[in-house]
Amino acid sequence: MKYLLIDCDPGHDDALAILTACAHKEELKILGITTVGGNQTLEKVTKNAGNILNFIHEEIPLAPGQEGPLVKTLSPAPEAHGDSGMDGPYFKKKEYPLASDNGVTFLYEKIMESPEKVTIAALAPLTNIALLLKTFPQVKEKISCISMMGGGIHHGNRTALAEFNIYADPEAAQIVFASGLPVVMAGLDVTEKATVSVEQIESLKEKGRVSRLAYELLSFYHETGKQFGFTESPIHDLCAVAYLLEPDMFSGTYEHINVITEEGRARGLTYADRRLTCGEKKNVLVLDQVDRQRFAELLFAALEQLDHKEVC
Ligand code: RIB
Ligand code: CA
Repeated sequence: MKYLLIDCDPGHDDALAILTACAHKEELKILGITTVGGNQTLEKVTKNAGNILNFIHEEIPLAPGQEGPLVKTLSPAPEAHGDSGMDGPYFKKKEYPLASDNGVTFLYEKIMESPEKVTIAALAPLTNIALLLKTFPQVKEKISCISMMGGGIHHGNRTALAEFNIYADPEAAQIVFASGLPVVMAGLDVTEKATVSVEQIESLKEKGRVSRLAYELLSFYHETGKQFGFTESPIHDLCAVAYLLEPDMFSGTYEHINVITEEGRARGLTYADRRLTCGEKKNVLVLDQVDRQRFAELLFAALEQLDHKEVC
């Protein structure tokens, strides 16, 4: 059993990661979910997180964190996720209660009161996590791992060199990588291999209520993915949760990762220092391979489980 906190910016792929985590109560005890400005504004991504939790009748504590990055201003991604941040599905208007108005202190409190060390699934810009580590450094001894979606060793997506979550807040990312905590980095090197096919998306259409929601999420996300050249859309954030459930579905290498924070074309670039003389801790497991069949099976089994729960 892992005690889990999820930090996210739903976001179609965030939503699928949350659904998958919620389908694995035996393995993941979700202590709470926090949101951060990223794909869309804090208000929109928090509303989206609440809609997902309402849809599956969950009561997981939800708290909004930071509106935007530590230094710069927020630059959402409507081109990928739409104006709402999670375009496609229709959700009944139902407020989801907020457990706190400060996601960073919420994370701190949940970690300190947890009976076990806590795992963090970071699916968005790392602003909340960086502030948590800087404001309450004592939490480090109660964090077992940060499994994050972000970065990339060979290329970017927000720019040629930087991935969206890191580019959104490079200073925050540098704080997290430099924390020395065990980090699993699901960057673009692996997440762009973590896709489902159009046929697989279609297969969800009539399977069940939650599968239908995933169909609507993936259908929209597949369409917007085409503008970036994808024939199958990567479910980036699901990799960070899938690793916690089936780590042997992935492979990678331990690295010492740094982030370019200086102004310029490389801002947000993540790189590994592979010099033999690099005495720094290789605390980051950079994933680069995924068993695509197992990845898709994990998602579809989770959706089926949630469909079944609906019926009972
Ligand atoms: O680059 C992909 C990441 O940016 C994912 O977390 C997606 O949700 C967006 O936030
Ligand atoms: Ca995200």
